Amino acid sequence: MTTQKNALVTGANKGIGLETARRLAAMGFKVWLGARDAERGEAVAQALRGEGFDVEWLELDVTSNDSVAAAVKTVAARAPALEVLVNNAGIAPGYVEALGPDGRYERPPSRESVDDMKATYDVNVFGPVRVTQAFLPLLLATPAARVVMVSSYMGSIARASGDSQSPNLMSYGSSKTALNAITVAFARELSPRGIAVNAAAPGYTATDLNGGRGHRTVQQAAEIIVRLATLEAGGPTGGYFDENGPLPW
Ligand SMILES: NC(=O)c1ccc[n+]([C@@H]2O[C@H](COP(=O)([O-])OP(=O)(O)OC[C@H]3O[C@@H](n4cnc5c(N)ncnc54)[C@H](OP(=O)(O)O)[C@@H]3O)[C@@H](O)[C@H]2O)c1
Repeated sequence: MTTQKNALVTGANKGIGLETARRLAAMGFKVWLGARDAERGEAVAQALRGEGFDVEWLELDVTSNDSVAAAVKTVAARAPALEVLVNNAGIAPGYVEALGPDGRYERPPSRESVDDMKATYDVNVFGPVRVTQAFLPLLLATPAARVVMVSSYMGSIARASGDSQSPNLMSYGSSKTALNAITVAFARELSPRGIAVNAAAPGYTATDLNGGRGHRTVQQAAEIIVRLATLEAGGPTGGYFDENGPLPW
């Protein structure tokens, strides 16, 4: 019988999710690489297998009930439990297009589209709720599972209201604020059942989300995510952290 632990990372085919998957695989987890596109998912699975890691591509569009249900079936058929869930998939529609020549964000809330806002919430807010709920039986099948919500500094109301320098992204920022609240809500229910649920702020990282403009590397970004995904028993739950510690809500 295998004692290998299983981890699922959503949006694992690139960026911070891919690096998080790589790090968890390097720690000995079998990693399920959630990706909504077969070609991108399989390509990244092959690449990581080439690096010697035990990974599987898992078709998973976080906005689709059917896709998430099928993904649960696939994992449940092959794994007795899920020790780690990283809700990483996220989008920021229109963000890159709204950056001016000096890299400043130039789209005020009065010009954000409600359609973009709905699309953002579908992935960044309803996605993690849908995925966490669907995988709950597998998370509860092990004594101390860990759920990490990949949030952002932009989710901090304390920061947004006190720091006029930070970009004013209404849809994206508020989606991460909602995700922070959802983190606390799940933690209140699930912590007594052994599951630690925490939110991570990876920092402004060079990925496709921002057209490569972030000043941090994916290795730096994955640090806090991996730490929260592998917390010892008695570690924090219902919190919001970067690699230096707790953040103001
Ligand atoms: N980069 C930063 O500066 C930064 C800062 C703070 C927080 N974050 C957060 O970090 C997380 C990862 O972002 P990233 O910077 O690595 O961005 P990225 O390189 O654009 O990667 C985003 C990932 O999410 C996936 N995704 C998008 N919609 C999806 C859906 N409906 N179902 C499943 N997967 C979906 C993408 O898949 P496709 O390739 O198919 O599009 C991709 O794998 C996000 O939650 C983001 O908000 C990023």
